[in-house]
Amino acid sequence: MIDSGQALGLEQKLSGKHVMITGGLGMLGSTMAHQLVKCKAKVTIVDACIEPYGANMFNLEGIRDQIDLNITDIRDKEAIKVLVKDKDIIFNFAAQVSHNDSIDDPFLDADINYIGHLNVLENVRKFNPKAKVLFSGSRLQFGPIESIPVDEDHPLRPKTPYAFNKTVAESMYLFYYEVHGIPCIVFRIANTYGIRCQMRHSKYSIVNYFIRQAMEDKPLTIFGDGKQLRDYIYVDDLVNVFLLASIIDEAEGRVFNVGGGIGTRFKDMMNMVAEVVGKGEVVHVPWPDNYLNVETGDYVTDISKVSTMLGWRPLVGLREGIEMTHAYYEKYRTYYF
Ligand SMILES: NC(=O)c1ccc[n+]([C@@H]2O[C@H](COP(=O)([O-])OP(=O)(O)OC[C@H]3O[C@@H](n4cnc5c(N)ncnc54)[C@H](O)[C@@H]3O)[C@@H](O)[C@H]2O)c1
Repeated sequence: MIDSGQALGLEQKLSGKHVMITGGLGMLGSTMAHQLVKCKAKVTIVDACIEPYGANMFNLEGIRDQIDLNITDIRDKEAIKVLVKDKDIIFNFAAQVSHNDSIDDPFLDADINYIGHLNVLENVRKFNPKAKVLFSGSRLQFGPIESIPVDEDHPLRPKTPYAFNKTVAESMYLFYYEVHGIPCIVFRIANTYGIRCQMRHSKYSIVNYFIRQAMEDKPLTIFGDGKQLRDYIYVDDLVNVFLLASIIDEAEGRVFNVGGGIGTRFKDMMNMVAEVVGKGEVVHVPWPDNYLNVETGDYVTDISKVSTMLGWRPLVGLREGIEMTHAYYEKYRTYYF
């Protein structure tokens, strides 16, 4: 939980720190940048603005003149060598984010989600080995789920190139911690939604996509019966857990599962979106093969490790999060639709 004391603690510990965020024009990275500016950190954003991911200049509205923005690719060896040098903390969020697209172009996924991250880590090892480096992995690394809630010891049997490469990248972060002593921290993240997310397609961040569908009074299409459980986390809660991990030394070298910790049936999430927005009809269609083949079953995060070690818990319930997200896109729709 971030209480007022923790918020004060965060500001005290992060004030004046040099922090780099890769993928910083996307949802998670830009929301992190807003929070870090509040904490008076010196923020550098690195983003390659690759389509069809979430880079959006409007995400920096209100802080653009308080941060350093580099339109750079994490695979660029020379640029990253210079950029890592003076940083205290690196949130390495840049990614090819769609697990379905990774099936069509596994080379691109490996290139960004594995080789790009290796480039950041190697440059940290050579030029700034004291930097703390935090990695955003995915719940999809687990593959088929044996039992819920899912803790950190659940077997990893990734089913798509996105999930393999996140899993290899996670092992690489842990290697850099164990062998080279780089203070790395790894998260496996459940379904994230909220403000500053791309709203143009359904390749990822599905709650946001359905909020747009409902706002445009279009059908909200559920594959199958929609009874599968999912765990949704609001972006502000995710930012808080990364920030806490960045200032707590015991987090170094650890893997954390993070999510809302509550299972919600997919169809209940959809009905909630339709209720909050006040439009959009929920319709059921058969599962398309390309989705059914990579479906991993019910997922609920066991958040006991992350809550105990970092003193964190999610603060935003699903309905409240959908309400805040809807209100944001009502106000700023032209920048995202
Ligand atoms: N959104 C989710 O539901 C979710 C769930 C689990 C994990 N994650 C992970 O969280 C991280 C952030 O995701 P997000 O939801 O903010 O996505 P996003 O698409 O909003 O942001 C990703 C950003 O990375 C940038 N990027 C892509 N390739 C790059 C490269 N080679 N060099 C530099 N920048 C590059 C994109 O331009 C984009 O701005 C990703 O690592 C993602 O895999 C997201």
